Amino acid sequence: MKIKIFYFTGTGNTLKLARDLKKELGDVDLIKVSYNMDFEQTDTDIAGIAYPVYCFGIPNVISNFINKVKLNNDAYIFGLASYGGLLTGSGKLLKKELKKRGYRLNAGFAIKMPGNATIYYNIPALEKREKMFAFEAERIKQIAAAVRDRKEYKVETNLGLFGQLISAASNKMMSKINETAKSFFVDEKCNGCGNCVNICPVQNIKLKDNKPVWFNKCEGCLACFHWCPQASIQSSAKTRDRDRYHHPDISYKAML
Ligand SMILES: Cc1cc2nc3c(=O)[nH]c(=O)nc-3n(C[C@H](O)[C@H](O)[C@H](O)COP(=O)(O)O)c2cc1C
Repeated sequence: MKIKIFYFTGTGNTLKLARDLKKELGDVDLIKVSYNMDFEQTDTDIAGIAYPVYCFGIPNVISNFINKVKLNNDAYIFGLASYGGLLTGSGKLLKKELKKRGYRLNAGFAIKMPGNATIYYNIPALEKREKMFAFEAERIKQIAAAVRDRKEYKVETNLGLFGQLISAASNKMMSKINETAKSFFVDEKCNGCGNCVNICPVQNIKLKDNKPVWFNKCEGCLACFHWCPQASIQSSAKTRDRDRYHHPDISYKAML
């Protein structure tokens, strides 16, 4: 049985979920979703789509993927969201977008991971993060068992009807997410190493005079912000005092 998991990640949480699922399921292809990936016919019995929740919805790069991917008609399709607390009705959007293409979402799983939108709030304390990781280690085993058996499973949501309403309005926010990097600047710690250029999954950063310059196709993933070894990328005065984060089991190299 062929299993492919398509994933997108900014700080490694989603990649960790995808990797742990692979560990449980055995022979799985992990494929990073990008705008310039191969959208040819994907021959797979099981297709997983793993993504971080952004602005109560799904990342633009994932929507683009759903619009273009060609899956087998009888493929079992599951979603796997990693989210910081406000899952809302984001999985329903995934279901809707797949439906537009004639595909059915058979299961919509979700796991709460450390929220990484550090331009808005601090990452959770270490103790809380560790609790999330412990929960993830167990939950992923249950998800693997369901996927292995191609089980139908409801799309997980939170905040009930209110959550679904805010997700329905997420399109507006997602259409502005390309502007996230407009507020970015580097402080005196920037040494021009170029890690931000390499980690950006949408090639939205170039170095000019040894300092990063952001263009206007930001995906909002905050990879540049969190993976900067000097923590020199800021979006406001507040971010100077906030910790940077990436999943402890995911290395910079694994991200590339
Ligand atoms: C721009 C942005 C918006 C986000 N919006 C939400 C959200 O609406 N709801 C939520 O629960 N988490 C939200 N998050 C948190 C991420 O979904 C969460 O931390 C996720 O695990 C990150 O996965 P990654 O490490 O694979 O990038 C947001 C993160 C970013 C960067």
